[in-house]
Formats: sequence, structure tokens, C-alpha cells
Amino acid sequence: MIIRISVILCFSILVKADFEERVTDPGILEDASLDTFTLIRKYEYPCEIHRVYTEDGYILEMHRIPRGAGARNDDSVRPVVFLQHGLLSSSAEWVLMRPGKGLAYILADAGYDVWMGNARGNTYSRNHVSIKPTSSSFWTFSWHEIGYYDLPAMIDYVIKQTKVPKLHYVAFSQGTTVFWVMTSTRPEYNEKILSMHALAPVAFAGNIRSPLIRAIAPFTDTLEVVFKMLGANEFLPNGKINELAGQRFCTEEAITQLLCTNLLFLICGFDEQQLNTTMLPIVLGHTPAGASSRQFVHFGQLYNSGQFRQFDHGWFKNKRVYGTRKPPAYNLSAIEAPIFLHYAENDWLSTPSDVDKLWKGVKSVVGKFKVPLKGFNHLDFVFANDAKELIYDRVINIMAYFN
Ligand SMILES: *[C@@H]1O[C@H](CO)[C@@H](O)[C@H](O)[C@H]1NC(C)=O
Ligand SMILES: *[C@@H]1O[C@H](CO)[C@@H](O)[C@H](O)[C@H]1NC(C)=O
Repeated sequence: MIIRISVILCFSILVKADFEERVTDPGILEDASLDTFTLIRKYEYPCEIHRVYTEDGYILEMHRIPRGAGARNDDSVRPVVFLQHGLLSSSAEWVLMRPGKGLAYILADAGYDVWMGNARGNTYSRNHVSIKPTSSSFWTFSWHEIGYYDLPAMIDYVIKQTKVPKLHYVAFSQGTTVFWVMTSTRPEYNEKILSMHALAPVAFAGNIRSPLIRAIAPFTDTLEVVFKMLGANEFLPNGKINELAGQRFCTEEAITQLLCTNLLFLICGFDEQQLNTTMLPIVLGHTPAGASSRQFVHFGQLYNSGQFRQFDHGWFKNKRVYGTRKPPAYNLSAIEAPIFLHYAENDWLSTPSDVDKLWKGVKSVVGKFKVPLKGFNHLDFVFANDAKELIYDRVINIMAYFN
């Protein structure tokens, strides 16, 4: 990781001088640097910021698009949809592709009250009632805690604010993982869900095809120790690197375009057909948005064990924390909300065989849909040119059925 980052930095300094004249569309650079709230307002949609406190003291920021751009601000009750982002990402994920393409805008225009969560540790949720993010104890969480604490807190908050009894839940990648965690460890939350749509679902991960993940997975156990030694409890913090990579390094005309595209897609799979490279600086301006190194380690454990289970502390500490030598598996039988899985053949992280295992394990899966495009990959679920036609239209049709 460290080597990779240094490489990015070196390259970006080299191309920097060359670069400044190359940016043709100032709107792209602006979108790369605006926060979610300002970005949404720029496109003339209403937006609100909300603060949510978790049981264990984290302060999360939520973003809400209460209605579509043209809709009147009346008292009409709109169905509520909750969107949860993937790993290293944030609420921005749902709006980066702009109106007409970003799922949050599409849902708002379809008549929904759209609420976007932000997991602890990302750009918008770096606060705690007593611990500072500079302290390593701020970062001792995995996606387990996001599912166990953050999601329930945010869902309860949204239900309280909107006074609806239930909401729709749409999530991408890790946003689905935390849903399985919540509904299996706190089954009472199943009753608060009208329908759940998993875009690139991740629970079982034994069949991940990403070469980078496969290369580092054998070192998962030592990885956290190494991170600790380096003082890196936070994985790839958003900041200088991000800015350089997003704005200076990845411009369309730059000779480094291909390399840049490769770096990002090395982890997630590759689909040049569906990726609008003009928009790449915007994506990279908002990602990585912060995550703990333990989130990666926990995913690495899923890959190594082939099981969907809690964080493995090593048998000695496991015995103390869980009462068993091995971490307990998440109880998929406890999941009861109506679930729809959307997956793709060429997805290196949410592979068809792992999605199949999830489908067999969760009895409340109502539908399982393969994206009808061969090259479609992991990130395409949120960034593809044709995501609306290929996935979102179907999601919205199904949701209407539950309203
Ligand atoms: C790519 O993005 C640019 C800038 O938003 C836009 O003008 C262009 O039409 C997009 N291309 C495709 C194929 O969607
Ligand atoms: C798993 O959940 C089911 C359904 O709620 C329950 O009957 C069962 O006892 C649970 N199993 C474990 C090991 O907790």
C-alpha cells in the first residue's frame, strides 16, 4: 500500500506542471471538491444535513434529499428510502454521477424522500462524543460495528423524523454487508424494512477474484499488526493523496490516464465500456473517504475462511470476547426482511458463486437478478453510464410494489 501511494505521489508531481492547462471542464474539478450537501444544492435539489448519535458515542452525518428538484414543498407524505454507501466511500457516491444518473436524484424525482447514511470514520462521520479521530481507539471498529451501531441509530432517527413505520433500504457492497450484520444481530430491525435492495451484495467472500485482494489476503493476520506499527489505524486517509490523485493525476488527456484507471480498478474489476472517464476526477475527488484498517482485515478474514462471521481476534481473545475459539457466524436465519439481490457476472468482489451462497442462506430473498451485461463490474453498480436502465429502473419498479 505504502509503495503504491508513493508511486501515485511521484507521478502526480511529475504530471502536475503539465496538467493545469489540460483541464477543460471547470465543472468537473468543482464537483470533485464540493461536499455532498453543496454538490446536491449546486444541481438545485433540496438538501438537509442531520446529525445522529450512536449508542457508543459516534456522531454521524446524514444527508437528505426530501423531494425532487421540481416538487413543491408541501406536506404530502413520501415513501422513505435509505441509501448506504460502500467501503471507502460516502453519501457522495449516490450523487457523483449528477441528476439523471445518480440513484439519489433518480429516487427523489420518482417521489421518494431520500436519506443517505455515512458510516463512522468516513469524511462526514469523523466525530465522537469523547474520542478524537487522531486517537487509535477511534479506529478500533470493523464493519461489524457499522452494522450493529450505526445503521440502527440512523434508521431509528429517520423513522422518528419522518414518522413512517418502515422504509426501503438500498445499498452497495459493504452497505449490504452491514445490513446482514444488523438484521442478524438485531432481528427486531427486520420489521422496519419495506424492501431491501442489495447492489453487489457482499457476505461470503471466499470466491473474490480481485488479484490485489488475493495477493494480500494470506497476510491478513499480520496486516493489522503492521498497520498498528505504522500508526495507520485509518486506511488511506482522505486528504492530500486524494486531492492529487483525483484532480491532478486522473485527467482525461493525461498520459497517466490508463495507469490511474488501472490502480482504481485493480481492486474492483474493470469495465471501460461503462465508465465515463470524463467523470473519473469526480469519483476520485470523493474516494477514498476514510475507513479503518480493521474493515479491510475483517473482509480479508471472510476471504480466507469462506465464512460470514464476526471479527477474528485470534483464539485467545476470541475465547474472552465470544466464549469460543472461533468467531461466531452471523445467523442468516434471523434475516426476515424482503430482499432483492442484484449482481453481475464480471464482479470481482461480489462474485456469482458467493452471491449464490447468500441466496441459499437467507430465506427471505425474494428476487435474484443478474445484470444483463457481460462486462459489468463492481463499481458499475453506482457509476456506470447505463446503471439506470440496467438496474435502478427495476429497483424502483419493485419498490413501488411495497409502498
Ligand atoms: C461523460 O460525462 C460528460 C461530462 O459529464 C458528459 O458530457 C458525457 O455525455 C458523458 N458521456 C457518456 C457516454 O455518458
Ligand atoms: C438464528 O435465528 C433463528 C431465527 O430467529 C433462531 O431460531 C435461532 O435460534 C438462531 N440461532 C442461533 C445460533 O442464535
